[in-house]
Amino acid sequence: MKFATKTIHAGQPSEPETGAIVAPIFQTSTYEQEAPGHDKGFSYSRTNNPTRQRLEGVLAELEGVAHAAVFASGLAAENAVLQAYLRPGDEVIIPLDVYGGTYRILNKVFQPIGVVVKQIDTCDLKAVEAAITKKTKLVWIESPTNPRLLINDIAAISKITHAHGALVVVDNTFATPCFQQPFELGADIVVHSVTKYLAGHSDTIQGAALAKDPAVFEPVKFLQNATGAVPSPFDCWLTMRGLKTLELRMQRHEENATAIANALNGHALVRRVYFPGLASHPGHDIARRQMTGFGGMVSFELNGTIDEVVAFASSRRYFTLGESLGGVKALICHPATMTHASIPPETRAELGLSDSLIRLSPGCENAEDLVEDLLEGLAEVASARASQKKTVGASTR
Ligand SMILES: Cc1ncc(COP(=O)(O)O)c(C=O)c1O
Repeated sequence: MKFATKTIHAGQPSEPETGAIVAPIFQTSTYEQEAPGHDKGFSYSRTNNPTRQRLEGVLAELEGVAHAAVFASGLAAENAVLQAYLRPGDEVIIPLDVYGGTYRILNKVFQPIGVVVKQIDTCDLKAVEAAITKKTKLVWIESPTNPRLLINDIAAISKITHAHGALVVVDNTFATPCFQQPFELGADIVVHSVTKYLAGHSDTIQGAALAKDPAVFEPVKFLQNATGAVPSPFDCWLTMRGLKTLELRMQRHEENATAIANALNGHALVRRVYFPGLASHPGHDIARRQMTGFGGMVSFELNGTIDEVVAFASSRRYFTLGESLGGVKALICHPATMTHASIPPETRAELGLSDSLIRLSPGCENAEDLVEDLLEGLAEVASARASQKKTVGASTR
């Protein structure tokens, strides 16, 4: 079964009782038992729920493994993986360009209980090799990364990590299984902010953790019930609805991102464009090898002041200023003050996260409209500068 067919058919038969072709929402907290301790596979909806179980089945099929657990948010899924595998004294390696929330949970929740967090340039394989010790339990990577869309070589990092007996976790939120299959490249665990492309409509918060090996999955699955951060049946249903168009949406997101990257690249007011599809992107060759599409996100540095960056981001016609990404409606974000504000400014500077960086999540709109909106914004910056110059010139004359 090919990917698009899986998103619509995998684990989604018609409902047996009525023939409904769309799975119902089992909005129930508990289940009748035939005799004490004898249920029909469902006893309580924190532990399991038929709608959630269907979603887990679909996600597992899409990532090509047998085990998936969904959570009330991407961070809840991350927390379950981290709690399952990190104990005081253990080490975890993360990329410089990691999602701000991942940075925060590790530095504010796990580091205080004795976990050692090593943030390194995971694009540099020698740096990965040098950072791993006997105490390393997890090498946590994102690819593409958030927000600079850097590419980590999943196969090479998995090889190095496995040689030291540690596990590789891949946050596959940006690529989605439509464009990247981390388990085929050696990952042990995949996590998602389902909130983003998988659900796809900016209307639900959810996360997922998946594993190939049942023994690796078991402690994560245990924590799903034991700590209880599960999504509602309605949220699971929304994601299943969204998933049916995942391939179509990802193709459109990528087309739009490509058009935008090409339009911004080389513009006088743009210092740098980050899009793995550009031949000039440092991870372009690896992306070609390990992905079947370059993804739908584009970031760029505006060649201007912080006020100009803020004005640009706040006044677009089709790009709504907001956190998050991966929905059908385009979003624009200023990582330094929004998604990555939890990273202290001096650390952001060390990590290369410029205050003039703007992150774009093109939706499924028309590419020409989106490009026009951005070019108009750059023209507004240029004309505001020109009129400022005139005013200064006039007042000093
Ligand atoms: C790459 C990545 N991973 C994880 C998360 C966390 O997911 P959630 O917001 O669903 O908790 C996000 C959120 O933006 C993200 O961008």
